[in-house]
Amino acid sequence: MEERIVTSVNLGEDDDIEYSLRPQRLKEYIGQNKVKEKLNIFVKAAKNRKEALDHVLFYGPPGLGKTTLANIIAREMGGNLKITSGPAIERAGDLAAILTSLSEFDVLFIDEIHRLNRSVEEILYPAMEDYALDIIIGKGAAAKSIRLDLPKFTLIGATTRVGLLTSPLRDRFGVMCPMEFYEDEELKEIIIRSSSILKIDIEEAAALEVARRSRGTPRIANRLLKRVRDYSEVMGNGTIDMQSSEKALELLEVDKEGFDRIDNKILEAIVDNFNGGPVGLETLAYFIGEELDTLDDVYEPYLLQKGFIIRTPRGRVATDRTYKHLNRSRNLRNKDYKQCSVFKEAENK
Ligand code: ADE
Repeated sequence: MEERIVTSVNLGEDDDIEYSLRPQRLKEYIGQNKVKEKLNIFVKAAKNRKEALDHVLFYGPPGLGKTTLANIIAREMGGNLKITSGPAIERAGDLAAILTSLSEFDVLFIDEIHRLNRSVEEILYPAMEDYALDIIIGKGAAAKSIRLDLPKFTLIGATTRVGLLTSPLRDRFGVMCPMEFYEDEELKEIIIRSSSILKIDIEEAAALEVARRSRGTPRIANRLLKRVRDYSEVMGNGTIDMQSSEKALELLEVDKEGFDRIDNKILEAIVDNFNGGPVGLETLAYFIGEELDTLDDVYEPYLLQKGFIIRTPRGRVATDRTYKHLNRSRNLRNKDYKQCSVFKEAENK
């Protein structure tokens, strides 16, 4: 798969920068106001009662700060953070080993929690509900279950696919936190904060321009900031101003909407090859040569949120915004779609 500058997926190179820029406390964290408000109250209440915070589930597109918030919660609760992921825990014994190594108020962060296998997931149920680990010893008729107590810990799950969580697992999270795309102004603030940590000189208007093209995602904003800095240092006087940021973003092939070649390929396919839609996601993925899961998790959410495509029962349909963006005009057949109520809602966003 082609590597993209505007992908919200962690490219590995993001780790260092995300680590150094990561806010440490809830009050330093910009955006996600509803999530912050909830966490602020529940963390305070748990600390007052000297209890562990109830288990938390973060869900939404990649790059929006789920790991950052898990770090902050661990710090606010005064516990250590252990990080793992659904696919990394292969056997029930792996999870049992992690759980027995925890101390009171520790936070266990499981990324991609929808990818846990069933036998591992079943270990989590008593661990979350009763802070207990049920171990089976022996086999057949002689098999016995013994129960070990676990310290009072907090499980933080993160997923880009909340719909794939089984209901017994989902029901065991006390705090549900949907993560939303950031507003341009919030991303601008994040870019200005990052610039000051990294000692980058940036004008406010340029910070807003980078923000606008960051697809509502701090991970992308910080990545673009680094590349725009490189451009300004080599081609300009080191200060990121409107001119250098626009030129750098043009060179990076990130357009005014934050779309790159692949986004535009998706939109062009719907308009030019499927007459504006409807087209099924699978057909679209096949047509543009991308994985279905990547299209579903990474590309589509932002295109949907910005009203460039809408979901109908028969597939994805391009909106007027898309036609305008691509400089195309609608033909008669796809004008019918404009009568659908979902269509009108999207157009009014
Ligand atoms: N860096 C990345 N995401 C951030 C956020 N939400 N607030 C502050 N700094 C950040």
